[in-house]
Amino acid sequence: MNIVTVKNDMQLSDVASSQILKAIENKPDLVLGIATGGTPAGTYQQLVKKVQLKSVDLSNIKTVNLDEYVGLARDHEESYWHYLHEHLYGPLELSPDQAIIPNGLNKKLEEECVRYEQAIQQVGGVDLQILGVGRNGHIGFNEPGTSLDSKTHVVELTDSTRQANARFFEDPSEVPTRAITVGISTIMKSRSILLLASGEEKAAAVSALLSGKIDKNWPVTILNEHPDVTLVVTEDAKAEEQGHAG
Ligand code: PGA
Repeated sequence: MNIVTVKNDMQLSDVASSQILKAIENKPDLVLGIATGGTPAGTYQQLVKKVQLKSVDLSNIKTVNLDEYVGLARDHEESYWHYLHEHLYGPLELSPDQAIIPNGLNKKLEEECVRYEQAIQQVGGVDLQILGVGRNGHIGFNEPGTSLDSKTHVVELTDSTRQANARFFEDPSEVPTRAITVGISTIMKSRSILLLASGEEKAAAVSALLSGKIDKNWPVTILNEHPDVTLVVTEDAKAEEQGHAG
């Protein structure tokens, strides 16, 4: 694993956005895996600025979302469809055709999961997957205990995750209880992974990862088996003594 330790969010966003830009310059039809949440927001902001500054053509990229809440309308401010459009598609004027995203409103959720897994395969799989990590070690919405062989599936969100995400909702009871997420095996098929971790609340998850052991209760640790991972981590997210979770 390649580890880049940075002082703060600003530096994290700078390093991560430069890596994404480089990947797009190397492969103009890049399939980019999109994480949502607080951590990558600054990265997308800086990516937009850099793309505009260099007039990079993004019309051939595709994006693949990691996850989507079940039951939120697309235009709900906290849906990940909305996040994608607010942070990337709007400012970069990308065509909605370039976005592959789970439909959390599909009444037939199991069919939606199968469709989504196929849709990812149809674009040739993800070239570069951006990932955040939950304070409980989840990647995507693959909560602790998720099978390492999992494909796209519906999850019941843990209390820890719902509480962490409540900060984005006016009323915490509005946080959906379920989501569609790509699986751990889906993530592991990405050709490269850019994992972002910021803040002391991520230190336990980062510590588990850096212990080098694979532990189903800390899904992020599976990335130790991936051949091409770059971790961009702030000093405070790396502060915990190694061995905490091992
Ligand atoms: P965050 O979420 O970036 O909002 O902390 C990360 C995650 O839950 O994967």
